[in-house]
Amino acid sequence: MATGPALRKLAAHRSIHDGAYAEARDLTDVVNQLFQQERDDECRTAADVLIEYWETRVIAHADAEEEGLYVEIAEENPQLQKEIHMLTRDHDLLRIILDKIKTQFKENHHVTKLVLDQFQSLLIVNEIHSRDEERLLLEE
Ligand SMILES: [Fe+2]
Ligand SMILES: [Fe+2]
Repeated sequence: MATGPALRKLAAHRSIHDGAYAEARDLTDVVNQLFQQERDDECRTAADVLIEYWETRVIAHADAEEEGLYVEIAEENPQLQKEIHMLTRDHDLLRIILDKIKTQFKENHHVTKLVLDQFQSLLIVNEIHSRDEERLLLEE
């Protein structure tokens, strides 16, 4: 996982965002397709993979930022405190939505329309968050 200094450059950091987003979107498409085709077992397996992907790639990236990058930027630029709080709240929304998915999905291990909607909302929140983070915190 990239640490503070490695995340400071806009181009490098954006490519991490874009790579993670494209993969999550593709996996989400697979889950949606399998759901529509009523291929329940495969749909469950794909949803497990997608949950794991959000945890190990996107939430882990957020954790690393809060432990490194955000701490460094807040120390150097106290005037960015508000932006860092806003961006941390975005991370929390991703964690909260993912927890909801896990609670629902793990209960009966069944993908529902609600779970699909929640996966979609993760993509939307993450996309907004990534662009704001790039714009507010990162240097060319
Ligand atoms: Fe972030
Ligand atoms: Fe980021």
